Amino acid sequence: MSGCNKLTESGRRFFLGRGALAVAGAAAASTVPQAPAKATPALARVAYPVSRLGNMRDLKVNEPMDISYPDADSTGVLIKLGTRVEGGVGPDGDVVAFSNLCPHKGYPMFYQADDRTLNCPGHYSRFDCEKGGLQVWGHATQNLAQFRLRVDAGGDIHAEGVDELLYGRHSNVL
Ligand code: FES
Repeated sequence: MSGCNKLTESGRRFFLGRGALAVAGAAAASTVPQAPAKATPALARVAYPVSRLGNMRDLKVNEPMDISYPDADSTGVLIKLGTRVEGGVGPDGDVVAFSNLCPHKGYPMFYQADDRTLNCPGHYSRFDCEKGGLQVWGHATQNLAQFRLRVDAGGDIHAEGVDELLYGRHSNVL
């Protein structure tokens, strides 16, 4: 029994000794001057290409035109909605462009003219083209990527950027 007590006592001393060392180490670490924290570097700005999509003369109200932006693998539609909308360009503020790849799993979507939505045949997500591609139903977990547009003096319509991540990409511009 006395041998057992000696073992217990030596274990207790070992534990207390290590504990004291740990406390001393923590105290020393807290008094060591630390290098000032550096701010997180700003994220890289995305440099989008400028790409001519068409001309105002090419568009008919509520009839989408097939386009691609910022590269050939990213398909979309250019639409003159006939109603001024936020983000719309042109004399009537009604021209918009969206990716037509569903943000859920990338199915190509179709335009439904009667309610001006893009619709996915995969799992039926729907996006409102009059509200900046707002998802109005379905499995997708983000709104539809809208292309930023500019119309020049000659009526040419240029895409200059994208406001959401395109389906299947880590970056819109690789
Ligand atoms: Fe469009 Fe699933 S791929 S809802």
